[in-house]
Amino acid sequence: MLHNDVFEELMNEEELNKTVSDIAARINADYEGKELVIVGILKGSVIFLADLLRKITVDGCQLDFLQASSYHSGSVSSGNVKIVKDVTCNVKERDVLVVEDILDTGNTLSFVKEHLLSKGASSVKICTLFDKPGRRKKPVTADYTGKVIEDLFIVGYGLDYSERYRNLPYVGVLKSEIYS
Ligand code: IMP
Ligand code: MG
Repeated sequence: MLHNDVFEELMNEEELNKTVSDIAARINADYEGKELVIVGILKGSVIFLADLLRKITVDGCQLDFLQASSYHSGSVSSGNVKIVKDVTCNVKERDVLVVEDILDTGNTLSFVKEHLLSKGASSVKICTLFDKPGRRKKPVTADYTGKVIEDLFIVGYGLDYSERYRNLPYVGVLKSEIYS
């Protein structure tokens, strides 16, 4: 049964599991033998990251979190990004993989990428579960993408609208009357 506020399902639990496994296989091949630090972007990435991390086999990989704010409670990005919680791991000379729920305008990830490079990371790559390339305002591309989608507002599996719906076990398209 879908939540009442969800118009249609975009990815069910089985499809999410398959998508996460495919991404993990690519990351495992690319980072074998490297000093990997995985940085989850709070809060939307947590469910995806929890599932992804358990499929990562890169020996000695570290986990950290970063929280940025630009999205005020609503569906429109402000472009004015601030770091609310920074990483505590040392990323200097490490290969950093940023894990995000969704890449939208690119404001958040372009800022976060520059921030981590300025801390001396050897490389910073981006892994996102969803990508809305049609809405891009900054020239950011993801290195690992689960699914490219149209300009829809999606929720569930960590993704929220005004802090709600993160707990849904699937990803669904939010009814437009909820956010318009
Ligand atoms: P950006 O800085 O515009 O790329 O925004 C990225 C952030 O916006 C993501 O981390 C999400 O928190 C939020 N966001 C963008 N699109 C959606 C969506 O369709 N559903 C839920 N959150 C979204
Ligand atoms: Mg969010």
